[in-house]
Amino acid sequence: MAMAGWHLSRNKVLFFSGALFITLAVGVHLTPYFPSVTDFITSVKSSSSVVVVEDRETCVSLLHEISFEVMPSNVFDPLLNNNSLNYQKFWSWSRLDSVDLCEFQKLKRNDVLDLLNGSWVMVAGDSQARIFTLSLLSLVLDSKRVESVKSFLFKRHSDYHIVVDEMDLKLDFIWAPYPNNLTDLVMKFKRRHLYPDVLVMGSGLWHMLHVTNASDYGALLRLLRNSVTSMLPVSPKFGNDGAVMGSVSSVRSPHLFWLGMPTLINSMLNTQEKRAKMNDVVQGEYEREVRKSSILREFGGPFQLLDIGSLSLNCGIKCTDDGMHYDSAVYDAELHIMFNALLIESHQKL
Ligand SMILES: *[C@@H]1O[C@H](CO)[C@@H](O)[C@H](O)[C@H]1NC(C)=O
Ligand SMILES: *[C@@H]1O[C@H](CO)[C@@H](O)[C@H](O)[C@H]1NC(C)=O
Ligand SMILES: *[C@@H]1O[C@H](CO)[C@@H](O)[C@H](O)[C@H]1NC(C)=O
Ligand SMILES: *[C@@H]1O[C@H](CO)[C@@H](O)[C@H](O)[C@H]1NC(C)=O
Repeated sequence: MAMAGWHLSRNKVLFFSGALFITLAVGVHLTPYFPSVTDFITSVKSSSSVVVVEDRETCVSLLHEISFEVMPSNVFDPLLNNNSLNYQKFWSWSRLDSVDLCEFQKLKRNDVLDLLNGSWVMVAGDSQARIFTLSLLSLVLDSKRVESVKSFLFKRHSDYHIVVDEMDLKLDFIWAPYPNNLTDLVMKFKRRHLYPDVLVMGSGLWHMLHVTNASDYGALLRLLRNSVTSMLPVSPKFGNDGAVMGSVSSVRSPHLFWLGMPTLINSMLNTQEKRAKMNDVVQGEYEREVRKSSILREFGGPFQLLDIGSLSLNCGIKCTDDGMHYDSAVYDAELHIMFNALLIESHQKL
């Protein structure tokens, strides 16, 4: 089938074992054009392995049902106060019946190569976004290359760009610590009429530390929301029978994710200023502003939440050294949540 951005061949689709996953994977292409919807529906019907899952919304809402197993590592040394070294972490989706039904999967390198083949992914934000980017690169690059990437990626306050030739993946990390930096970025997309296929944004900690004004943060988020919403191409309206109404032949819209703030462990924050300004009350106010700003899908906004807050809380105090940046297990889990959300989302759009 010749479709722009159609990257998963039928054989590759069957590579995924779960029934839901098969269903979802059929619809995955990360450059989400809406070519001919009838083509797509025919292709779904012709595949006998397709099981239609009734409620994808439910599966999206269960994506964060993750538990961490934290145990002393082999090199455990009680005198060495180093959480990252002292504990091993494993994560998995909870073994609830409802979660089982969704058949979420940890993607292996090859799956990720398939999924992101030919895509442009952009992650913009603060240090959380940087670590998230590193998680993604650790999954697609070999370890030697990851080491060399690390030194560039962790240069403070700088952007990072890479093209992974083998999979035709373009990945940009944009240092954008404040919400207005994100808005500026969106305006740039608008001017150029050029958008990434997957856009992950997140911002909050810098504003909390350097401005410490939740209502100002909320106002900036609303500006961001408005500029993102106006950037999106008109989404096609589906009739009850699943047919596209109107003449939408090639609509392209980025997949949008919001990287939430981590749970801050005040006593572990590494400066007096942070402990004073980034207290529990202020953090609560900032979280509230995120909800009030309607930036998130669950509140009618454009971004699907990648809930680092709940995952980091779940992983707990043994998963952080500075009460703010967490063990790679947290970001790795979030990355796989995003992959599964992408699979669900791209199917939903068709
Ligand atoms: C823990 O160990 C890692 C790796 O050796 C090191 O980079 C980090 O700074 C250490 N953290 C603390 C709090 O000592
Ligand atoms: C990516 O897609 C191209 C074109 O469909 C294909 O030739 C290539 O083998 C794919 N690469 C990977 C790593 O899947
Ligand atoms: C982000 O915004 C701040 C505040 O407006 C500004 O001072 C800074 O230069 C911006 N940074 C980047 C990387 O655009
Ligand atoms: C917080 O920000 C709001 C909106 O920008 C502003 O009106 C208010 O004066 C600020 N409050 C403080 C204490 O600076």
